Amino acid sequence: MRIVSGIQPTGNLHLGNYLGAIRNWVRMQDDTAEKGGECLFFLADLHAISMPHDPASLTKNTRAMTAALVACGIDTDRSYLFNQARVPAHSELQWLLNGTARIGWLNRMTQFKDKSGKNREGASAALFTYPVLQAADVLLYQATHVPVGEDQKQHLELARDIAQKFNNDFASEDAPVFTLPEAIIPADAARIMSLRDGSSKMSKSDPSDNSRINLTDDADLMMQKIRKAKSDAEPLPSEPAGLEGRPEARNLVALYATFADISLDAVLQQFGGQGFGAFKPALGELLVEQLAPITSRFNALKDDDLVLDGILNKGAARARDVARPTLDAAYDALGLCR
Ligand code: TRP
Repeated sequence: MRIVSGIQPTGNLHLGNYLGAIRNWVRMQDDTAEKGGECLFFLADLHAISMPHDPASLTKNTRAMTAALVACGIDTDRSYLFNQARVPAHSELQWLLNGTARIGWLNRMTQFKDKSGKNREGASAALFTYPVLQAADVLLYQATHVPVGEDQKQHLELARDIAQKFNNDFASEDAPVFTLPEAIIPADAARIMSLRDGSSKMSKSDPSDNSRINLTDDADLMMQKIRKAKSDAEPLPSEPAGLEGRPEARNLVALYATFADISLDAVLQQFGGQGFGAFKPALGELLVEQLAPITSRFNALKDDDLVLDGILNKGAARARDVARPTLDAAYDALGLCR
């Protein structure tokens, strides 16, 4: 079992990022180790240049995301943690796979349609071939499983199609070059909403800092933000149906459920009938208990460029070793002499 997954580096990391991909990766790392497999996690910095971007922010965000992953529990001895740019085999294999990927396949990718919008002609070529790089990311390591959000399922199917066609066209049946990876779509990706508006997603770009819990917030600030979080005047219902039409109440209850690792039902059994005056402090304490160790590790690491670059260098050196045989096999299969 080999798990491979990537995440785009973004800045201003918050609770939504943690409860999205990051916590899922940490759990996967622990489960995989038990089963004798391994995990490769990388920052998709090469993908980031497919959209207009600021180079200095890309460097900064790549390091910040690395700090967050380590702070949240990615163990850089057990797992591989690196950025794509440090492993040139990603770019090399992408070019080799460009010979196999079909324009017609890429034309069907919904992410390209969404991100290019009305200005298709002005989109970068990288945005169009983005899914081929993503295929290279996973095929390079013979990934067996790839955890991705629902929105990336189509890209993973494309990776399988590319692997299949390459194997058919260039390898013998008993010695395929690439493994066909399976997608793992997390069942209950908790959607974390703004603390100021229960109907919009928690976002790094919301002008109100009170709308989100940042990974840099200390315990006092977290408590204060939960205390100030928008709620309503009603007591909590005793079952989830009673959260209908109460987006802020639903968000706070869902946060509690996520951190306590219990169902909405269980939270409401405990707090049904109580008002937010009682519920908010309980939620704040739970959040602080679980997040404070993470935020303090994150704050200690986030500006230590030397340590962060060291982590990425070490991860990349190990990843290059895993990648080499597959990259060599792909060049050979295509008849490219080196
Ligand atoms: N495209 C993915 C996203 O935006 C990130 C990504 C890049 C990725 N390469 C990958 C995810 C390979 C899984 C495997 O979320």
